Amino acid sequence: MSYPDSNIFHTSNMTAADFNKLSTFIFNNYGIKLPPSKKTMLEGRLHKRLKALNISSFKEYCEYVFSAEGKRLELINMVDVVTTNKTDFFREAVHFDFLSNNILPGFIKVHSFTKPFKVWSAGCSTGEEPYTLAMVLSQFAEKNTGFNFNIFATDISTQALNRAASAVYAEEKVAPVPMLLKRQYLLKSKDALNKTVRIIPQLREKVTFDRLNFIDGDFSPIPNFNVIFCRNVLIYFDRATQEKVIQKLCSKLEPGGFLFLGHSESVANMNLPLMQIQPTTFKKI
Ligand SMILES: C[S@@+](CC[C@H](N)C(=O)[O-])C[C@H]1O[C@@H](n2cnc3c(N)ncnc32)[C@H](O)[C@@H]1O
Repeated sequence: MSYPDSNIFHTSNMTAADFNKLSTFIFNNYGIKLPPSKKTMLEGRLHKRLKALNISSFKEYCEYVFSAEGKRLELINMVDVVTTNKTDFFREAVHFDFLSNNILPGFIKVHSFTKPFKVWSAGCSTGEEPYTLAMVLSQFAEKNTGFNFNIFATDISTQALNRAASAVYAEEKVAPVPMLLKRQYLLKSKDALNKTVRIIPQLREKVTFDRLNFIDGDFSPIPNFNVIFCRNVLIYFDRATQEKVIQKLCSKLEPGGFLFLGHSESVANMNLPLMQIQPTTFKKI
C-alpha cells in the first residue's frame, strides 16, 4: 500500500511565457542574465517560494510577484533565491597577499597614519570576503601601530546579508583560515552538537553591511575607497552591464586605488580608467 507523501508540493511546470516574464524582469532590474538554458534552474530555485506561498503554478506566482503587494513583500525573497551566493574565506588568496605585501605598505608610505584605509567588499554574499579582509587588515594593524581601517560590505541578497551580519559559520567553512588567525579571530560555540564559530566582536565592528543593487543609480551617496573587491559577481551580468557597473565602481575609487575582480572576470576592451597590475588586479589611473 502506498501513502501520499505530504512533503511533496506539486506545482505545474514553468511555461516559456512565465520564464520570459521572470527572466526579463530579473535582467532589467538586477542585471542577472538568465538565458533559456537556465529555465530548469530558475524553476528549481523558485519552487521553494511557491511552496512557502502555497501557490501551485508559476503563472499565479508571476501575477503575485508583479502585483503591488508582491513587489513589496516577495521581490526580496525572489532575489534571495535567484542569486548565487557561493563564497569562501580566503577565496583567491593571492589578492590578500598582494594587499598585505604591496598595497598596505604603499598606503602608509604615502599617508602615514593620518587616514583610515577604506575597503569595499562589493557583492559580499554571506560575509566570508569582508571578514577575511578584516583579518588581513587587523594583522597589518598589529604590526603597524596607528594603522586604522574600515570595511563597507554590500549585497543585493537580504538573506545573505543577515547571515553575514550574524557572523556565525559552520566549522568546515573556516577550514581555509590559517590556524593562527582562527585562534585570534574566531570564537567556538560551546554547543558540542552544533559545531559553529563566530567572528570576534572586534572584527565584526570593523565591517558595515548594507543592501545595494549594482544596477541602481550612480552610487552617489557612497564614499570613495582605497580598494574595492568585486569578485565573482560580474560573471552573472552581460558585457554592457559589466562595463557600466565597473565604471561606477571606478568612480568610487580614490586615485591610485585598486580594484580586484574574480578569476574568470575580464575588463578587456572596456573603456575604463584602469591599469592592469596582475591578472584580475587593477589600479585606477
Ligand atoms: C558568488 S557571490 C560572490 C561573493 C564574493 N564576492 C566572493 O567572491 O566570494 C555573488 C554575489 O553577488 C550578489 N549579486 C548578484 N547580483 C547583484 C546585484 N545586481 N547587485 C548587488 N549584488 C549582486 C549575489 O547576491 C551574491 O551574493
